Amino acid sequence: MIFDEFTIKTLIRPVNDFPKPGVVFRDITPLFQSPRALRMVIDSLIQRYVEADFSHVGAMDARGFLIGSILAYELNKPLVLFRKQGKLPADVLSQGYQTEYGEAFLEAHADSLCEGDKVLIVDDLIATGGTLLAAVQLIKRMGASIHEAAAIIDLPELGGSRKLQDMGIPTYSLTAFA
Ligand code: PRP
Ligand code: ADE
Ligand code: MG
Repeated sequence: MIFDEFTIKTLIRPVNDFPKPGVVFRDITPLFQSPRALRMVIDSLIQRYVEADFSHVGAMDARGFLIGSILAYELNKPLVLFRKQGKLPADVLSQGYQTEYGEAFLEAHADSLCEGDKVLIVDDLIATGGTLLAAVQLIKRMGASIHEAAAIIDLPELGGSRKLQDMGIPTYSLTAFA
């Protein structure tokens, strides 16, 4: 299926002042309610990564899980979960971060990656980059490296994709909103 960016954009709904005044929230639920659009998104990412050299898919809690788990399944790679604080049961590494509208801690199981592992990190959206940068820190603390950061949506005005690229992390998104 050919990727149709216009269709994808029309299925991302802007919601003003959620969750805080001044934020335009980019809601992906309409996209997930369209099997055709979801297939377009996943197929496009699979095409990009099917021959790429990486060892793990790393998915961000919570919306990143939606695409990360499908990609891990389709690309036959182990899936590492980067979760919000207090959700992972075994020994964790923890990293504080800020996003467009809040601050939190991101955690990964301490034994989920080793030196030499190379992770494709996946989320639905890049805003300030806080979430993906926290994952980058956790991955590096385990001695592993990052293949690329992938998202459906980039919000370039919030500076996250630039920050990731400036840190040497290749960054890829299917669409962007200025
Ligand atoms: C949202 C979005 C990204 C992150 C992007 O997650 O899903 O993960 O913010 O913002 P950033 O680039 O500034 O980090 P959020 O934690 O708000 O909610 P979720 O649990 O629904 O994914
Ligand atoms: N995460 C951070 N900023 C966001 C936005 N504007 N829309 C949806 N998710 C977000
Ligand atoms: Mg998220």
